[in-house]
Amino acid sequence: MKVILTQSYEESTQIGAELILGALAKKPELLLGLATGATPLGIYQRMIDACREGVADFSRARTVNLDEYVGCLAENSYRKFMDDNLFDHINIPKENIAFADHTADPEQEILRLRKFFECNTVDLQLLGLGPNGHIGFNEPDEVLEAGCHVVTLAKATKEANACWFDDGVVPDQAITMGMGDILRAKSIVMVVKGESKREVLRGLLESDCITTRNPATFLHLHSDVTVIAEKSLVG
Ligand code: F6R
Repeated sequence: MKVILTQSYEESTQIGAELILGALAKKPELLLGLATGATPLGIYQRMIDACREGVADFSRARTVNLDEYVGCLAENSYRKFMDDNLFDHINIPKENIAFADHTADPEQEILRLRKFFECNTVDLQLLGLGPNGHIGFNEPDEVLEAGCHVVTLAKATKEANACWFDDGVVPDQAITMGMGDILRAKSIVMVVKGESKREVLRGLLESDCITTRNPATFLHLHSDVTVIAEKSLVG
């Protein structure tokens, strides 16, 4: 695991964006696994800027997102978040975007997405880190699931994400890529933002033990992981 400690969130996003844009330059038809939330926003802005400046071309790129709420309003969906914060501002064809549909039957969506992951390999997976160690929405538990599945969100996750909802009410369930889907990506870049991640980040960086109680520790099983975090979080 490669660990890059930065002076600031801005530096983290610069390095994260460089890794993504570098991979895209090498492979224009890159399949990019994407995350939502506060962490990737700075990276997405840099991707938008690069596209506007003509130094990045997403016309052949494909994406798949880690997760989506089940049964949420369209305005609260992760799909809308991604449209607003990335997809509507870069030249990616809409048909190249794979996403769980929050309006569809979740079980059918899971079958569809499991098929997608059988036929496609993510080239670069971007991850954030949940305050409880979740990656995607693979929440700490006694067991973790390998494939795409419906998950009941942990209390800590609902609390952390309430700020994104006008009424503060976060859906109980989400569809998430499983741990196997994440670990099958050819390379993984995890960016860590925020004080609330300090403890789980230290759990990840201070030993190579793996525990389902801190799902991010499974990244130790992968041979090409880069963790980018502010130095102040590990000091
Ligand atoms: C979001 C996702 C989550 C977030 C994590 C951190 O698609 O999969 O694992 O990456 O909850 O969220 P932020 O970045 O808001 O702290």
